[in-house]
Amino acid sequence: MESYYIEPVEPVLRRFVEDVRNIVAREAPGRGRLDALRAPVEQLLVDPSWIQPHFLEPVPGTTATWAVYRSQDPDLCIFTMVVPPLNATKVHNHLADGWVGLVQGGQIERQFRRFDDGSRPGFADVRKISELPIRLGEITSIETPDADIHQIVTTSREASVSLHVLCNDLGTVERQTFEPEEQRATTFVSGYTNVDGASAIGR
Ligand SMILES: [Fe+2]
Repeated sequence: MESYYIEPVEPVLRRFVEDVRNIVAREAPGRGRLDALRAPVEQLLVDPSWIQPHFLEPVPGTTATWAVYRSQDPDLCIFTMVVPPLNATKVHNHLADGWVGLVQGGQIERQFRRFDDGSRPGFADVRKISELPIRLGEITSIETPDADIHQIVTTSREASVSLHVLCNDLGTVERQTFEPEEQRATTFVSGYTNVDGASAIGR
């Protein structure tokens, strides 16, 4: 069973999920799939008013992730990420391809690249390669493995909110945060703010 966490499910969202699931079924993971996903994500964000107010809610002192949709096969999740004013996420990876669109506030994205092979537990040589402001309505890609590590900083007085469309069930995936200065990697499972036991489906 796929799961929607939005009621009622707006037709625009239902159509988007159908389109995207067809693309995910048709296209093997990689550049082609990512390119094919771009237009539907852009289209979905032309009018983001279907995103109800509780998906924009910050949780003080931490990053909130509000699940909107998760497929049964863990190959598609849609969620909002809410980063409080002047807060930053940890440097983190996603282990999947996808697109992220900014729907409220302002952000800076710091992109990092990993230079070690990941074979030493707890060690990671991760270095910042860029730092760019993200404009409202802009979409940015996440592409594993080479463009998969980043940090998001909210630059606005209101919380920043970005809609994520990723080709896994991100909240249930064992992935890493990084402390570049200490060359340290820590494995974690993020869950979703609005899903108890987020691993109940999709794994
Ligand atoms: Fe991220």
